[in-house]
Amino acid sequence: MLAKSVSFALTGLEAYPVFIEADLNPGLPNFTIVGLPDNAVKESRERVRLAIKNSGFSFPGGRITINLAPADIKKEGPAFDVAIALAVLACDEQIPVEALSPYAFLGELALDGRIRPVSGALPIALATDPKLFAGLIVPFENGKEAALANTVKIYAVKHLKEIVNFLANPQSLQPIPGEGASILNKSRRYSIDFADVKGQNHVKRGLEIAAGGGHNVILIGPPGSGKTMLAKRLPTILPDMTLNEALETTKIHSVMGLMKNSPGIVTCRPFRSPHHTASDIALVGGGSNPRPGEVTMAHNGVLFLDELGEFSRHVLEVLRQPMEDLYVTVARANRSLCFPSSFMLVAAMNPCPCGWLTSTVKPCQCSSLEVQKYLGRISGPLLDRIDIHLQVPALKNHELFRPLSAESSADIRKRTVKARAIQQRRLAGSAYTNAQMTVKHIKEFCQLHEDTTALLKKAAETLGLSARAHDKILKVARTIADLAGSENIEGSHLAEAISYRTLDRIIQ
Ligand SMILES: Nc1ncnc2c1ncn2[C@@H]1O[C@H](COP(=O)(O)OP(=O)(O)OP(=O)(O)O)[C@@H](O)[C@H]1O
Ligand SMILES: [Mg+2]
Ligand SMILES: [Zn+2]
Repeated sequence: MLAKSVSFALTGLEAYPVFIEADLNPGLPNFTIVGLPDNAVKESRERVRLAIKNSGFSFPGGRITINLAPADIKKEGPAFDVAIALAVLACDEQIPVEALSPYAFLGELALDGRIRPVSGALPIALATDPKLFAGLIVPFENGKEAALANTVKIYAVKHLKEIVNFLANPQSLQPIPGEGASILNKSRRYSIDFADVKGQNHVKRGLEIAAGGGHNVILIGPPGSGKTMLAKRLPTILPDMTLNEALETTKIHSVMGLMKNSPGIVTCRPFRSPHHTASDIALVGGGSNPRPGEVTMAHNGVLFLDELGEFSRHVLEVLRQPMEDLYVTVARANRSLCFPSSFMLVAAMNPCPCGWLTSTVKPCQCSSLEVQKYLGRISGPLLDRIDIHLQVPALKNHELFRPLSAESSADIRKRTVKARAIQQRRLAGSAYTNAQMTVKHIKEFCQLHEDTTALLKKAAETLGLSARAHDKILKVARTIADLAGSENIEGSHLAEAISYRTLDRIIQ
């Protein structure tokens, strides 16, 4: 007897249906899976066999062949277990063959028949056509996430027996109601806050400007000065994610198996911090069955490169394209995939190999040649994309022991949200933030008074600023003016923007 069921597989961030055929023939007991399964799918045989037995059904004797179609695409992971088990039960007539056809099934089986959560529930729910399917049956833990798709009916189950029962008696389960934008506000909480950071007002101000205009930023300071602590808090002062952004980010995190502790939707902007030994594939994505990398996991959030000087030049080089285009293209012989990668970059580094060059706490042990060589490693392509350089001094003892009374992230965020709204009105869809302004935008929106122009010229001469640095100063000055609610870029705005170009002075 032949039976069929439908499940889904992922390629990149998209899901496509996998048609499962089970054929039972008389003969010596045998259970094979064909159709380009990977190891996890092959192991499915043992899980399915035991889950069926331990759920109170009998595992059919005879030759069972499972075929996964389309046969030319590699099938990965354990998510087909449930659909395979149901097809096996149907080909043995323990459940009616036609009961399976209205539904698609998703889930890994435990040996006792319980159903374990899988990756990619949201993209799979989005790909399940409600015109073709009366419902998508998902593991209980994936239910809320899948229901975000708000299209096909989602039924969430804990055990194989529950599905068999549901197929016989569809009233036994209710679909999960889809929640709209309201779900965003229910679960939006960061566990960290700028109020935790003592002193460092200059750095906080710099990060507020970075958040206010979407500017990439580098933090330079001695060990223990709080660079990592400060960088981690940047997402907390970025504007809240829109529903669309939250869905995009959830889809990515779902595919990458990062949803373990989340309430069905990612509402906090991601913060990704890849180690400096990460490969280029880990960073930008790729592989034989292409998967997104860190730049995509940081989409709509922050990518933090700690110890920037330790990253290999090649790895930094491959970051250029995603930063420029806001997406990554991974090309393979038979297809090419596109992963979004719109993130803010925060880099951190010590000012010299020993770390204490700019500090008054300890003397620096490095020769000027060593310092130049160290800083030389980060110059070039990546530094070109960083608008704001912030010095992070080591806190003095008395500052560290002062009681905490710092402004909260929520208060800072009110100002960045206002500044971004001004930019969106001004740029009217041609860009979102000041950092994304083109040369044409800069000409139009960053005009200076005569005396302010003179100030910029003088700074350019004394600091030896390149044309690139010149444009960055104008963009940052525009953000400072927006934060102040000022129509014009005033001298004070420009002067502050110039002060964030420290590295232009150090690196020749
Ligand atoms: N301004 C601050 N307010 C409160 N705690 C701070 C501050 N600065 C540093 N700390 C404390 O010092 C610890 C070390 O800071 P952090 O790891 O952020 O430093 P770092 O500059 O990243 O150092 P490294 O260069 O070694 O990576 C923090 O976990 C925090 O407990
Ligand atoms: Mg650190
Ligand atoms: Zn040093």
